[in-house]
Amino acid sequence: MGKQRGLVIAGNWKENMTVEQAGQWLDEFNRLLSDSPLAEVNLRIVLCPSTTALYVVNEHIKRLSPLKDMAEKGLFAIGSQKISPSGQHNRTGEIGPDLLLNVGVQYVIIGHSEQREFMGETDQLIAERMQIACSHGLIPILCVGETADEYDAGETEKVLTRQLEVLRKCTDDQRKTIIIAYEPVWAIGTGRTPTPEDANKTIRFIKDKSSIPVVIYGGSVNDENAADFFSQPDIDGGLPGGASLNPNTFYRIVESASHLL
Ligand code: PGA
Repeated sequence: MGKQRGLVIAGNWKENMTVEQAGQWLDEFNRLLSDSPLAEVNLRIVLCPSTTALYVVNEHIKRLSPLKDMAEKGLFAIGSQKISPSGQHNRTGEIGPDLLLNVGVQYVIIGHSEQREFMGETDQLIAERMQIACSHGLIPILCVGETADEYDAGETEKVLTRQLEVLRKCTDDQRKTIIIAYEPVWAIGTGRTPTPEDANKTIRFIKDKSSIPVVIYGGSVNDENAADFFSQPDIDGGLPGGASLNPNTFYRIVESASHLL
């Protein structure tokens, strides 16, 4: 039985990839796609480069086949790692939604734990960024997840309930498009993960709490464990970070998802 609703695989490049490296990554990923039936399946691939590479990634895709055709069908898209919480073009260092749309961005990562932990990101700012994204037709990938201490204290559901409060102003229509990424902080970049069954249980909890239908898993996803996560009934894809930097590894993650459709 395939996953009728499709899957989402989003690659989070974080602070990596120069303009040249981004071009090489796309050339290689495109070459891999040309030899495979993947370009046809109900799978959304989202690439989230650093801000400096957004423009070149968008331009480069236009020159590649099948990537360009996949982008036109919504099967391959660009995500930003940031969006201004203000629609007024008045926050130095931020990027307004119209600038993102201008370089072909369709998705945006919001509330990543690295922003919460190291940059002082608050639930209030996350809620504002969600509103700006949704009101400009950008699809948020809202990241939520508990720290190791919260996990050990058995507080995962309490923490998630608080983090999901940022959705309270989102309309029913917006909830249909928003994606949530469940990323336990202790699994990010550590090689440690929850069991696929435990991740599925938490994602079921998130779906019940939020009425968001698409929830993906992130935190040390790689080409060896991806299929175990994606085959769980409630896990709708993944958000690999480190494993997205190599186009071959990322391709194998996408491929393992395609076998489930
Ligand atoms: P990781 O990162 O796959 O390297 O653990 C995931 C993320 O931070 O989104």
